[in-house]
Amino acid sequence: MKKIILTGDRPTGQLHIGHFCGALKNRVALQDQYDTYVMIADVQALTDNFNDPQKVRKNVYEVAMDNLAVGIDPKKSTIFIQSLIPEIAELTVFYSNLVTIARLKRNPTVKEEINQKKDLFKDDVTFGFLGYPVSQAADITAFQADLVPVGEDQLPMIEQTREIVRKFNKIYGETLKEPEAKIGDFPRVLGMDGRKMSKSLGNAITFTDTADEIRNKIKGALTNDLGAKNLLGLLEQFSDDLAVIKKFKQQFKSGTIKYSELKPLLADIIIQKLKPIREKRVYYEKNRKVVETILLAGTKKARLVAQQTLAKVKEKMFLNYFKDAIN
Ligand code: TRP
Repeated sequence: MKKIILTGDRPTGQLHIGHFCGALKNRVALQDQYDTYVMIADVQALTDNFNDPQKVRKNVYEVAMDNLAVGIDPKKSTIFIQSLIPEIAELTVFYSNLVTIARLKRNPTVKEEINQKKDLFKDDVTFGFLGYPVSQAADITAFQADLVPVGEDQLPMIEQTREIVRKFNKIYGETLKEPEAKIGDFPRVLGMDGRKMSKSLGNAITFTDTADEIRNKIKGALTNDLGAKNLLGLLEQFSDDLAVIKKFKQQFKSGTIKYSELKPLLADIIIQKLKPIREKRVYYEKNRKVVETILLAGTKKARLVAQQTLAKVKEKMFLNYFKDAIN
């Protein structure tokens, strides 16, 4: 039997080349070896976008198209919508007993996000947002995932999932699988302004950017130490020409690098690499029905898997009243 991957994206905006280097490349490469589930995390997206549900709704399609465009193949992978799997919400309730508030507050990614979202949360935070790592543990364990290919910022979520799994198994008996994280080889892609690449910061290169947009963005990239390393990292990710990569790396070390040479070259390479992705994405934009059909089929399949896990969990928790008479 194949091992299982579960991974997901919050539908809060289009995905970009930061996601590509950090997570998407891995997930596309691994879909042949693993039984792969790609979740569009609309419930999680609402934890900090509860006041803008239409944004989340719109981006469910954007994120689905991004995944399909970069090479997630619906014949190999199952793409589905989180909110249509109520079993995940049920698991979240059960797992919430296994996590303390103090532990949730210590999660470094959540901590940083709360700080960034002062406008939304003021001096406090919602129950839903603080608890989203618990719901993420439910996402992962509902599919009994072995591996979770994600960006680096997600490591604390996987760690917390593992803790919940251990605690559950200890109390209720061996039931859930402890997942492992898998990080891309260039996980910390910066935007052209030197901050973390992020759609909301407006510094990202997306799969719908035109060649001119990509050229302009890279032209404006910072070339301080951090910015330069970022450009070289991107070159390494997108170029297949080892000699060129080596040349620029050496020039950087010896302080003779010419950004007037590197930047246009890097832009051309990225434009070339993204071209088939962009074309595929245009196809899905024009054929929304195709995307809907993929999501519907994926969601139905995913739900059956989550139902099986929930049944096992409830049995272990002595919640298996009336077995098949009620469901
Ligand atoms: N938290 C992830 C992100 O912000 C999205 C996500 C939700 C996820 N559920 C998941 C990732 C389960 C991996 C596994 O990108």
